[in-house]
Amino acid sequence: MFNISQDFAPPFKLIAPYFRIGTFFYLAASVLVMFFGADIFHLDVYVLSWVHLFLLGFVMMTMLGAMAQLIPVVLEVGHFSVGVFYFIWPLLLLGMLMLVAGFYMAPALLPYGGAVVLVSIIIFVTDALLTLRKTEKLGSIAIRGILLPNVFLLAGLIVGIVMALGFTGAITIDIHSWLLGHVYLLLGGYVIITVMGLSLILLPMFGLSHGFSERPINLAMWLISFGVIAVAMGAILGISSLKILGFLLSFSAVTVYFYQLWIIYKTRARKEHDVWASSMYVAFVSMLVSMVFGAVYLLGGEHKYLLSAFWVLFYGLFGFVIIGHLYKIVPFLVWFERFSPLVGKQKVPMLADMVPTRAAGFQFWLSLTGAVICLAGFLGSSDLVFKSGAAFLIMGALVLVHNVRFMMNFKEGL
Ligand code: HEM
Repeated sequence: MFNISQDFAPPFKLIAPYFRIGTFFYLAASVLVMFFGADIFHLDVYVLSWVHLFLLGFVMMTMLGAMAQLIPVVLEVGHFSVGVFYFIWPLLLLGMLMLVAGFYMAPALLPYGGAVVLVSIIIFVTDALLTLRKTEKLGSIAIRGILLPNVFLLAGLIVGIVMALGFTGAITIDIHSWLLGHVYLLLGGYVIITVMGLSLILLPMFGLSHGFSERPINLAMWLISFGVIAVAMGAILGISSLKILGFLLSFSAVTVYFYQLWIIYKTRARKEHDVWASSMYVAFVSMLVSMVFGAVYLLGGEHKYLLSAFWVLFYGLFGFVIIGHLYKIVPFLVWFERFSPLVGKQKVPMLADMVPTRAAGFQFWLSLTGAVICLAGFLGSSDLVFKSGAAFLIMGALVLVHNVRFMMNFKEGL
């Protein structure tokens, strides 16, 4: 299935904690959603705690696991020091828990939590840079998929730590003007650029698309990078025109990115609509919907449109793009580790046998129904509707935890 080398991939036991912990925090975040009201304020301490739990515990944890696996596969060299991945997740976990506790009840913990997260990311980036130095394949994929998002990640974390110092009262800054810089660097600069960079590797790999033009994605990457820099500088320096320019560049970047997705979709050889393909449709439609809500809010819409934009981005785009890929990546890693040495010696399962197809479909529908009902709760300002959506989300997350365990423990045929 993979047309690029797996020879340098790290052992699965090194990567497994990232996916286990990530799915656990997806479940934890979904349970905590039950305690939101439909009219929450986004800067409430409970919401700030939750946002960091979801983004660091689920989104970053699984994305770092995927990067640990993909960097050597794409660059065709082993990690400079693969052992660092034993330390990155515990540090990220500890830093995340300190941030979550810090926002909720002990602000003094925030700068320390931030510093621990920063250390874990510096270790990750150092390994990535030293690995890049070993390779001859320093092409645009490496730059846009690995270097660029991590530069924004580091910048966003540093801005976060400065804000945390402001939050505790140690320094005086206008946190609210810095907030947009922090959010944009991390969500636009790190998460969205990673999604864009990885999608160019993963979508053709799983959808079997070949020979398509990559010019739109290159243009989209430039546009979003300048957009993120403009918004972050505009926010921190208080220059509105720069922020507006940044928003316009970002909207154009997403439009061009969608053109790239369309090209990949048209050239795909695999037409089968499995849970991965369905998850990608939900994820990319969510990206558009979130942008529409964001634009409505920026043009003077009510607070509920801001909540809806974030909701659709978090549960629609981030949730489905990550979970959809878990159904592809986890079986492959387990197969490679456990069954590839047995090929030719005994009967080994097919990759498709390792995915609990019915349960995966069940999880997809429960999570989608939950996310849509919660969105209706926000838009209609109804607690009851919102909480019934949260119940579906929790059920979906429980099934997900079961599915990931099933795939990781798959032993049939041994
Ligand atoms: C070094 C680690 C981090 C620190 C110290 C930190 C700190 C902060 C602070 C102090 C605030 C807002 C405070 C306010 O305006 O009252 C905030 C908000 C936010 N942060 Fe972070 N952050 C960190 C990491 C991250 C990461 C990695 C992400 C995303 C991947 C992220 C996403 C956000 C978002 C989306 C908000 C806005 C939340 C809302 O409006 O509800 N943060 N962060």
